[in-house]
Amino acid sequence: MTSPADVAAALGRARLVPVVVLDDAADAGPLADALVAGGLPVAEVTFRTAAAADAIRAMADRGDLLLGAGTVLTPAQVDQAVAAGASYVVSPGLSRAVVERCADHGVLALPGAVTATEVQAALEFGLGTVKFFPAGTSGGAPAIAALTAPFADVRFIPTGGIGPADLAEYLRIDAVVAVGGSWMVPRDRIRAGDFATVRRLTAEAVALGRADQG
Ligand code: 3PG
Repeated sequence: MTSPADVAAALGRARLVPVVVLDDAADAGPLADALVAGGLPVAEVTFRTAAAADAIRAMADRGDLLLGAGTVLTPAQVDQAVAAGASYVVSPGLSRAVVERCADHGVLALPGAVTATEVQAALEFGLGTVKFFPAGTSGGAPAIAALTAPFADVRFIPTGGIGPADLAEYLRIDAVVAVGGSWMVPRDRIRAGDFATVRRLTAEAVALGRADQG
């Protein structure tokens, strides 16, 4: 089993985390194909739909994607996500119960934290990486840069309201491990079965991410 630190490092190498909302678990296979073909074998499948656990299972079973669960709000959802094969668990906010259940399972917890108080609480829970969510309306890249002054060792995965136009601004910050977002996996394109567009948007996002690395 991959350690939480290894998973965090792998997300850092990917630089991008597609945040996926799947209405039908049958779309998981073609979506995974599109992400892999686009050069980004990573997904955060959100528990916003009933299809989440089945979709995670289908994508994790392939063995060629770094699979996580998103919008995880309860310990019971942590159990479902881990049983389905998720190797990281993302939450919009910071929940002690969720973080502790992740620790019980030995999976990486990535809770949301955008204020100094929330970041400090995450540190107290033993976490070194947080999701900065919703990034766009929480001060964006300048807010993360400001938080790195007192929290020099904390790593951030900004997500929410980010797109191709401001991706570079976030990736430029050393403390930013990766950037999350749904812009390369639009829900309506997935629902329409338009995986060619998902593949193209993914490849474009990967190219943008690489360009920033110089
Ligand atoms: C999330 O939960 O991480 C967000 O819904 C993703 O944000 P975006 O849709 O604005 O990219």
